[in-house]
Amino acid sequence: MDGSGQNNPNGESWPRLAGLDAGYIARQLQAYKAGTRQNPSMQAFAQMLDDQQIADVSAWFASLPATAGQSAAAQGHSEELLKRGEQLATEGDWSKYIVPCSSCHGPDNLGAGTVFPAIAGQHFGYIRDQLLAWQQGSRKNDPQRLMATIAERMSSDDINAVAAWLSSQPATAEQ
Ligand code: HEC
Repeated sequence: MDGSGQNNPNGESWPRLAGLDAGYIARQLQAYKAGTRQNPSMQAFAQMLDDQQIADVSAWFASLPATAGQSAAAQGHSEELLKRGEQLATEGDWSKYIVPCSSCHGPDNLGAGTVFPAIAGQHFGYIRDQLLAWQQGSRKNDPQRLMATIAERMSSDDINAVAAWLSSQPATAEQ
């Protein structure tokens, strides 16, 4: 109801949609319809929506205040993991040609325009699963393979680390 989604580290996590850019949400629904982004539950729901309904539901979720993620302590992530995650998100790792997430996703990873979604305060399980989906090729809708290229350079430890750190960051500048 509040668009906060749900973090299920051992199952399928559902993303926070509240406060995301409307154009971004709409493009994702179109991608599910087109099959360039694959997920059994979402593909079925997206098929039921026409263009107007996609625009309306996207505008609704975009209008909701961004809900906070979970603190690192509550999630039980180790200091070492969080440190590596912060490094990847804010500085990158040039030895692996990984540019900082913030270079595209905005200074605090709170999103930039309609192309680069907010990922700070997003759920751990969802961030991890998206990076894995790009690695495995089940998500192919990113412009110029911007995300696939990065995901392919990340180890599973890197993915867990960046998902852990980002998920425990504020989801808005005010939080
Ligand atoms: C070169 C630019 C660029 C960089 C650097 C980048 N991203 Fe992205 N990212 C994108 C774009 C573009 C999208 C939207 C893809 C789409 O339209 O489906 C995206 C989408 C995502 C999503 C999906 C969010 C959602 O709600 O669906 C996640 C998760 C993500 N990026 C994580 C990361 C992480 C973690 C890093 C750093 C390790 C990173 N990104 C670095 C460009 C970038």
